[in-house]
Amino acid sequence: MKHLCWVIILVATAGLYIPSLNAGSLTAGRAKAEIVCQTCHGVDGQATAAMIPNISGQQKEYMIIQLRAFRSGKRKHEQMSIIAGMLSNEDIENLSEWYSSIEVTVKTPDNPN
Ligand code: HEC
Repeated sequence: MKHLCWVIILVATAGLYIPSLNAGSLTAGRAKAEIVCQTCHGVDGQATAAMIPNISGQQKEYMIIQLRAFRSGKRKHEQMSIIAGMLSNEDIENLSEWYSSIEVTVKTPDNPN
């Protein structure tokens, strides 16, 4: 019985470190995006220049992992590394919630050749 309690506590605690289990706030995500990301990715996630990726509708987990990688130095980019360095775990959750929640419609070309 004692062991079972520890297992439950461990599983519950581990859940805190699994990104997808935390919801993230859309309102806070949007507010942060307006201040920090808009110039390059737009608030809607549509890039403002050729060398910037679109992030509208990007997968939430992917975004969280990339932003953490920029922050830790595992992934490097002149601008993104600095920007991610200013983000808290909560910011990353909220921003990823915001951009991943943007609906994207995909249409392939009619006559590919
Ligand atoms: C100064 C311009 C600029 C700003 C501001 C900026 N980004 Fe970026 N972002 C970039 C560029 C350029 C890349 C491509 C990096 C690379 O080539 O590795 C990028 C890459 C990313 C990626 C990885 C996309 C992928 O396909 O792997 C994510 C996620 C991202 N940015 C999110 C954000 C968020 C969230 C913010 C606001 C907190 C933000 N960025 C602010 C320019 C910017």
